[in-house]
Amino acid sequence: MYSKEFEASLKAVEAAREANVAYEPARMTAQEKEDLLAAYHPDYKKSEFSELKFGPNKGEKVPKELCEMLEANSRIKADDVDLSAPKYDVDVLIIGGGGAGASAAIEADKAGAKAMIVTKLRIGDANTMMAEGGIQAADKPNDSPAIHFLDAFGGGHFAAKRDLLAKLVTEAPEAIEWLNELGVEFDKTADGTMVTTHGGGTSRKRMHAAKDYSGAEIMRTLRDEVLNRGIPVIDFTAAVELILDENGKAAGAVLMNMETKELMVARAKTVIIATGGAGRMHYQGFPTSNHYGATADGLVLGYRVGAKLLYAETLQYHPTGAAYPQQIFGALVTEKVRSLGAKLVNRDGKVFMHPLETRDVAAASIIRECSDHGEGVDTGEGKAVWLDTPMIEKIGGEGTIEKRIPAMMRMFASYGIDIRKEPILVYPTLHYQNGGLDINVDGSTTNVENLYVAGEAVGGIHGRNRLMGNSLLDIIVFGRSAGQHAAEKAKDVNVGKLTLDHIAKFDAERAAAGVETDAVSPKLLPNYTGKRSEI
Ligand code: FUM
Repeated sequence: MYSKEFEASLKAVEAAREANVAYEPARMTAQEKEDLLAAYHPDYKKSEFSELKFGPNKGEKVPKELCEMLEANSRIKADDVDLSAPKYDVDVLIIGGGGAGASAAIEADKAGAKAMIVTKLRIGDANTMMAEGGIQAADKPNDSPAIHFLDAFGGGHFAAKRDLLAKLVTEAPEAIEWLNELGVEFDKTADGTMVTTHGGGTSRKRMHAAKDYSGAEIMRTLRDEVLNRGIPVIDFTAAVELILDENGKAAGAVLMNMETKELMVARAKTVIIATGGAGRMHYQGFPTSNHYGATADGLVLGYRVGAKLLYAETLQYHPTGAAYPQQIFGALVTEKVRSLGAKLVNRDGKVFMHPLETRDVAAASIIRECSDHGEGVDTGEGKAVWLDTPMIEKIGGEGTIEKRIPAMMRMFASYGIDIRKEPILVYPTLHYQNGGLDINVDGSTTNVENLYVAGEAVGGIHGRNRLMGNSLLDIIVFGRSAGQHAAEKAKDVNVGKLTLDHIAKFDAERAAAGVETDAVSPKLLPNYTGKRSEI
């Protein structure tokens, strides 16, 4: 039931709609964006970050919740594990069953390697499955990988590693072809041409989608391919510690059955971390659009064996998380809603920013609007702004919403809200980990041999902010590539004696740095009970 103030605001939005459809708000200048980010973006809130006191990124600041996990104790004691009797012995061990892990496994298998996926939930229980809006690729005549590069490089504040970003955009058209051939049902016109739209920060329409469940469609296809190929998938089994060999090279992982807590050893010639993101760390108390298992595990596993992090201090707050009703608080409202013409308006029905600013700028604009200096809408649970979805049908015609964003329509309809007729309330939600483990262009970590990373656990592909649709793209491009390179590398690897000596070394570094903690990591699952996790 809406309050009187709510009703008045809704009326103001309706009254302004016709004019707002025609209104083209100005883009911000570079200086205006910088000032806005510094004042309102959560990444700039210094009190929410802690300095790492030891380890490969000693002296750098990361979110305090991540710092606690990176500096925490191992879940295991080296003596608890019999390294002489591995339960699994493979060429390529892939940790994580999302889009990057599945793509890596498919390519490693194709290359003739014995590949195996371990995942703490089930294959497909991952952020890939939650992705909605689409996947970018410059494959139309008015576009090119160079233009795609410029859009993404600028959107990421010119901080992306150039060789990684160049690979991403250059291999994008091939990634779309690969998915199309595997069976992904992309939106196409009657003659088979792919339908493409804009996303925030894109200068060309290059977003390919499967309605507004693009990630689910891609994951369905990848999962089928993994299973059809007979690649072993060990479900409900977490990697809790990497194993190095006596020469300091990655050589497997200690696995834990999530139910029985039984520990097992997987020996491998190469290891790929594809553990995804960190939304369930709820940095700064934000809600999240992420899957239940997104707890930064890969960063912890890598850091403990000496792999370096890059840009771990930068997170992406998706501008449009659902702010109402409470049952879906933080759920993703795809950027495609804005691509199709819906604008963000305040409680007076005023458009307060260009709808396709990059995500960091859009999120900061909304946070400003919801601060004491703005005109946010009081939802009863906090402040929010309107996303005027009925504009979509005014622009694209009746039926556009049902055709292009049916999942959004269904999600809100479950709570009695018809997004074709009434606007929705949104506020930023923790969506993506821009930073992660530092890699070379072949997916190998920069300082631990035989350890590869793919997907959201990588840092540096997108710089300090990612554009919509470049994450589904990177899991495919870098997932496939990591699988190919890890399989190739595995041919020349002779694994030495397995050790977990790095645990004691890490403990000694912690003690020398004067850090005292009883926290253990990786976190594996979020803890919503308020008690110390029993997992
Ligand atoms: O808004 C979205 O659909 C999200 C896409 C992305 O993060 O790439």
